[in-house]
Amino acid sequence: MKDFTNKVAVITGAASGVGRGLANQCAVEGMKIVLADIEKDPLLKAENELRQTGAQTISVLMDVSKLEDVERLANTTIKEFGEVDLLFNNAGVGTRENIWESTINDWKWVLGVNLWGVIHGVKIFTPIMLKQNKECFILNTASGFALINGSSIYGVTKRGILSLSESLSIQLKQIKSKIKVAVLIPGFVNTNIANSARNRPSELQNKKTFLEGDLEDKEEGLRYNAQSLISQGMNPDYFAKIVFHGIRKNKFHIIGDPAIKFLFNTRVSRILRDIKYFEKHISEIK
Ligand SMILES: NC(=O)c1ccc[n+]([C@@H]2O[C@H](COP(=O)([O-])OP(=O)(O)OC[C@H]3O[C@@H](n4cnc5c(N)ncnc54)[C@H](O)[C@@H]3O)[C@@H](O)[C@H]2O)c1
Repeated sequence: MKDFTNKVAVITGAASGVGRGLANQCAVEGMKIVLADIEKDPLLKAENELRQTGAQTISVLMDVSKLEDVERLANTTIKEFGEVDLLFNNAGVGTRENIWESTINDWKWVLGVNLWGVIHGVKIFTPIMLKQNKECFILNTASGFALINGSSIYGVTKRGILSLSESLSIQLKQIKSKIKVAVLIPGFVNTNIANSARNRPSELQNKKTFLEGDLEDKEEGLRYNAQSLISQGMNPDYFAKIVFHGIRKNKFHIIGDPAIKFLFNTRVSRILRDIKYFEKHISEIK
């Protein structure tokens, strides 16, 4: 896709950070924009500010972890703008505890938003795009942690998003669909992600028990560390320009920080080392 004028973009997590940067760039490209987010005030602020630039914009207050909300998002988009050309499954949250220390509520919350959010977007919007039968894009925001090791539950969801997107892309090609798929792999971007807990639903909060008395202090320490890295990150508007460059060039992996190459090579080398070991020794195992 080269010309985006009057095309329709749907962006989840559009009220802040990467999503807000994408929305700004969609406006620059002359697109109609559907902003979706769980946080009401920043969502309305984004809608107002984009309208002031002349962009045709609507907002939908919703939760990507709920299938019915994503269905409502799709229905509103079609009712208002008649079609969807770019879907950004972007909403995401993060925690950074060790795997064994993460609570079941941590898993439910982060998987619910990051992975189920993308699953819901793909499930609801792909049939609509297939029916439209014209070039359109599904863009799923993963992370460098989709390619390299680490980051606990967050990393699990981002590797899952990469795998889902790879399968989706191959299967759509097999049926000669005009839908294209891409994965956004930002480096550090200066956003509010270290404050993800602001949107954590009350039923998935961690209960402070006698044994877990220090949990809140620990979460606060991790939040502080993450915040200092994120605040030195790239401007979201610049990352959005990289994304649109990637779409125009038909790239599947849209990479915000190519320096990830070193850590990716380290991970692949470890895997190759073990493959080579078994290549040599598997026939000796009786
Ligand atoms: N900031 C980075 O350095 C970085 C790096 C790699 C990947 N990412 C990814 O970028 C995406 C956007 O994150 P960000 O960094 O802009 O953070 P952010 O907190 O600034 O923005 C995330 C947005 O998602 C919304 N959101 C949260 N839960 C939601 C839900 N259940 N339903 C709908 N909306 C919800 C938030 O209200 C917020 O507006 C995420 O998928 C994140 O994992 C960010």
